[in-house]
Amino acid sequence: MLRGVDLHIRPGESMALVGATGSGKTTLTALVPRLHEATGGRITVDGQDITALSRAELRAKVAVAFEEPTLFSATVGENVLMGAEGAGPEDLARALEIAQAGFVADLPQGVDTQVGEQGLSLSGGQRQRLALARAVVGRPPFLVLDDPLSALDVHTEALVEAALREVLATTTALIVAHRPSTVLLADRVALLSGGRIAAVGTHAELLRDNAEYRLLMSGDPTGDGVAGPVEPSAATPTARALPARTPDTPEDPR
Ligand SMILES: Nc1ncnc2c1ncn2[C@@H]1O[C@H](COP(=O)(O)OP(=O)(O)OP(=O)(O)O)[C@@H](O)[C@H]1O
Ligand SMILES: [Mg+2]
Repeated sequence: MLRGVDLHIRPGESMALVGATGSGKTTLTALVPRLHEATGGRITVDGQDITALSRAELRAKVAVAFEEPTLFSATVGENVLMGAEGAGPEDLARALEIAQAGFVADLPQGVDTQVGEQGLSLSGGQRQRLALARAVVGRPPFLVLDDPLSALDVHTEALVEAALREVLATTTALIVAHRPSTVLLADRVALLSGGRIAAVGTHAELLRDNAEYRLLMSGDPTGDGVAGPVEPSAATPTARALPARTPDTPEDPR
């Protein structure tokens, strides 16, 4: 479903990956840590083909947080520190802080609380925050985030974004994003469309030059204008079918 994808992320750069739902963003990001194997072409990290690296070497270079993370049957602390060799309690605290996972302090045993199948079940947003903490705890040189803020309320999202901004200043990153506020964390944006990278540029450039990008970004339901003005244009497809919403009109009980 991906063919002819060509994307170069500069050292230290943060690249947002934007595309319609089902366009292959998760599939593309999963190729980097080799959760899926590419059937053709190659992916290099720091100039090295990822297939030439051992799992451990690759894991030391690339950390990932997925949209729908799984937690292991272990404590919160173990889940976050997993895979980060040599990381200690201070690193754990820093990672939880970045991910705005303050809820952990309120769990019955704090970071020692058992979660996962045999423990406390956490909400989608809580799991996302632990997955993000897990991704940043080892200070990886390359961070891959698949829409890691999608389940958060806007307030928490803004706090995580502010903390992430500092992390991104010191790493190279690929961040799948749907909302303009997340896109704005990145230096440049790549648009995935039709199985390939259709455009690369800054958020402002793509808004100006790319009708599909304008359309994707104008889905912002708050309409707060973060995405900039969206001119109706003849080139803009109108097939974006939004479910008709009926306003809540409680029936008069009398
Ligand atoms: N394991 C799989 N086997 C077969 N098809 C898959 C698999 N995973 C995903 N797909 C299909 O590949 C396409 C791309 O999926 P993908 O999850 O990469 O999209 P996405 O861009 O991440 O979408 P979203 O924005 O909804 O997360 C979809 O049509 C999906 O149904
Ligand atoms: Mg996805």
